[in-house]
Amino acid sequence: MISYTSNTQFFGHSNPKELAEKFGTPVYVYNEKILREKMRDMAQLISGPSFTANYSIKTNANMSILQMALEEGLNADAMSPGEIYVLKKAGFPKERIFYVSNNVSSGELQYAMDEGVVISLDSLSQLERFGKINRGGRCAVRLNPGIGAGHHDKVITAGKKTKFAVSESDIPEIRRIAAEYDLQIIGINQHIGSLFMDPSPFLLAVEHFLELALKFENLEFVDFGGGFGIPYHKLEGELPFDLQSFRASLEVIVSTWTQRYGRKVVFKSEPGRYIAAEGGVLLGTVQSNKVNSGVIYVGTDIGMNVLVRPSMYDSWHDVEVFRDGVWMDDRLGTQKVTVVGNICESGDILAKDRELPMISEGDILCVLDAGAYGYSMCSNYNNRLRPAEVLIGLNGEPRLIRRRDTLEDLIAGFPEN
Ligand code: LLP
Repeated sequence: MISYTSNTQFFGHSNPKELAEKFGTPVYVYNEKILREKMRDMAQLISGPSFTANYSIKTNANMSILQMALEEGLNADAMSPGEIYVLKKAGFPKERIFYVSNNVSSGELQYAMDEGVVISLDSLSQLERFGKINRGGRCAVRLNPGIGAGHHDKVITAGKKTKFAVSESDIPEIRRIAAEYDLQIIGINQHIGSLFMDPSPFLLAVEHFLELALKFENLEFVDFGGGFGIPYHKLEGELPFDLQSFRASLEVIVSTWTQRYGRKVVFKSEPGRYIAAEGGVLLGTVQSNKVNSGVIYVGTDIGMNVLVRPSMYDSWHDVEVFRDGVWMDDRLGTQKVTVVGNICESGDILAKDRELPMISEGDILCVLDAGAYGYSMCSNYNNRLRPAEVLIGLNGEPRLIRRRDTLEDLIAGFPEN
């Protein structure tokens, strides 16, 4: 048995018990060193100035993490005016933000235009709407390369069954609308889906996408999207995404294309999970232990409002157990348990039939790979408070980077009586 958090010295000079005492649970804990390493991996995905990586803020929008991304040379993609707003507050200049819009209102388009951000439109009607309010403007179009990939149907965003993007057969229509409104299509973008460990579909999509790029004369950039996976089963020895060989294949494809066609464009990608997932864990406390019809339920304060991925996609997250601040290996034995949260839903299950070290009330559970789509998908369901976020800095010391919700936050939006 191995411990990811011990191997990486995830908690710096602290341990889960101290963190739980100081900040309460549930609490998201991030490690700055790991986050920055992953950011550098992506910033240097393709060598040379003709490449930028856009951090996908939907993954984790904590202000401190965004500022790290800015420092590490990443640009950012935004999916909503709220994301544009927060990115600007974090210090991203307008040229470093790309708005990948989906089914937006004219007001939202206007907001992004006023902020000076390049917008990608993802349907013909939205392109036309953009043309009407911004004749002569510059924009990008999201295309569907016809190939999708991802860990669940719900996160596959290209191919035959998806609400996203414009089909390649509609490229003549894109050109017609662009001509009618005098629009300059300066970029095309795609995103085939989220979490692939086998890069082949992505590379195939890139090759195809570059063929599509030839149908546009004035492109300044071609954005391949994100989706690079991380090993969620790392405690069982799952290997990481093979970045080195992926990078080598990608470089060959883009340099061959550039040489063959003499086109000068900036290549972009939009990684999210790869950057944020492994640099974040979620700590929770075991509040009860019970047996119902032969199943041992370990009841925790990690409800589906805090981490929704297992309930939403049946996602697997490795779990480490700590007692008195010390990692529990399997020396005291293991048992098969179902780890659940404190939300009024039978589907509020974090880990089903999981073999874990013998767990007692008061133990701290550490859910791995929770830095991506963890806090960003939290809710106040059951009027539960969204947790705090803590960063273990490069000096090994923890600091609060987002406070826990308060009870007052739950009524803050209501009109005064
Ligand atoms: N670009 C676009 C246009 C996207 O829609 C996404 C993710 C990304 C980039 C970043 O993808 P990543 O590199 O993180 O895979 N909530 C789901 C994932 C949904 C992804 C949505 N789009 C999950 O927890 O698995």
